[in-house]
Amino acid sequence: MNADRTPEIAAPLTLPCGVTVKNRFYKSAMNEALAGRDCAPTEEHVNLYRTWADGGAGVLVTGNVMVDRTQLGEPGNVAVEDERDLNMLRRWAAAGTRNGAHCWMQINHPGRQSPITINQHPYAPSGGRMEGEYGRFFAEPTALTIEQIHDIVRRFATTARIAKKAGFTGVEIHAAHGYLINQFLSSDDNRRTDDYGGDLEHRARFLFEVFAAVREAVGPEFPIAVKLNSSDVPIAAKASERNGVFAGFDEEESIWVMKQLEKRGVDLIDVSGGTLEKPVIQTNSGAAEDRRRGVYFTDFARRVKGELSVPVALTGGFRNARDMERALDEGLTQMIGIARPLALVPDLPKRIIRDRWDGTVDLPWVTTGIKALDRAFGGILVIGWFELQMNRIGRGKKPNPRIGGLRALCFAIGKHGPAALTPRRRKGHQ
Ligand SMILES: Cc1cc2nc3c(=O)[nH]c(=O)nc-3n(C[C@H](O)[C@H](O)[C@H](O)COP(=O)(O)O)c2cc1C
Repeated sequence: MNADRTPEIAAPLTLPCGVTVKNRFYKSAMNEALAGRDCAPTEEHVNLYRTWADGGAGVLVTGNVMVDRTQLGEPGNVAVEDERDLNMLRRWAAAGTRNGAHCWMQINHPGRQSPITINQHPYAPSGGRMEGEYGRFFAEPTALTIEQIHDIVRRFATTARIAKKAGFTGVEIHAAHGYLINQFLSSDDNRRTDDYGGDLEHRARFLFEVFAAVREAVGPEFPIAVKLNSSDVPIAAKASERNGVFAGFDEEESIWVMKQLEKRGVDLIDVSGGTLEKPVIQTNSGAAEDRRRGVYFTDFARRVKGELSVPVALTGGFRNARDMERALDEGLTQMIGIARPLALVPDLPKRIIRDRWDGTVDLPWVTTGIKALDRAFGGILVIGWFELQMNRIGRGKKPNPRIGGLRALCFAIGKHGPAALTPRRRKGHQ
């Protein structure tokens, strides 16, 4: 970074809806796992978002908030389907918008990716039991009827309307990581033969209807972001195939969907991923994995550059100011999506912008010290460990990078019971 000029990361950005965010730090969604069985936001949410807002990020995206409390993606989710928790939502939004920060609610429906320990009756674009080693963790879903699809579209709009009423300053529609909207987009999950299945235009119809309904609910001057996978396609030739034909959601298709969303008035695309072979978080080795991979999805961002005029937030792998500035300078992204480092260093944006800190946040190797346990619970360990850090901040404590994997595992079981030990996402959809 050139010390003489204002870094690009500190520059404001005006979105297509006319709203300006104060800098380029985009705190990506992390499920806080702080809600109880009532799915209501808690005092810990308020404390956590106050800390993050004071930490200097331009936009804070909440962890995914469910549009139906009977259909949760993971234990500890917040769900918003009516105004019963409006007061706590107001306090949460007020805390997240301190210090000139934006606080956007990520809204989601898990579809079939709803663990059997918390949901015996999931829904999906198509029925059929999940194949492979994770099948036993998810109940067989029922295919949605047209009426149920319309109901879910309305639910997304209702949740967005309540978010706005409570004082959240934007919403992000979760269309990535294998959840319901992603399931509609993917020809692997979506085998419908009606208007919501078949070619891409029809598979994307559900997303476009959700987007239109949310826009209608929040009006033209309210930011709507969409988190989308760059693809669901495994890198090697192991693509899921049906009758010899590739099934999934590939980069070409993702770019087409992004362009359509741009035409329809989206304000930001949050680029993510998650493939059968390459989940967003691939191992529990932390910094070692980061050094090997660098910033995630940069090749895709290079492909998208020039094709889109809507702002992009590239998410994953940003650990130091140099990489952030380089990605912004190169025009690969307009915002820096960043998740895990902010659970360890909540004021990282302030340190980089104000103090010109040029170190690297090293993520820990999360281990129980017992190889068999690490193997059995790898993904859950990492997620649980970061949930524990958010929980600490929510209780007014500082994050503690020295906490071991076993403690994180015990914490997760203590808080959520055995449900904590089921995979939160299907393999390949972190
Ligand atoms: C504990 C935890 C919870 C997460 N929850 C969500 C979520 O609710 N919604 C979402 O879109 N992504 C979620 N993610 C993925 C992150 O937003 C992000 O894409 C990923 O961690 C890569 O970014 P990073 O390398 O900066 O951590 C979660 C990640 C972690 C570690």
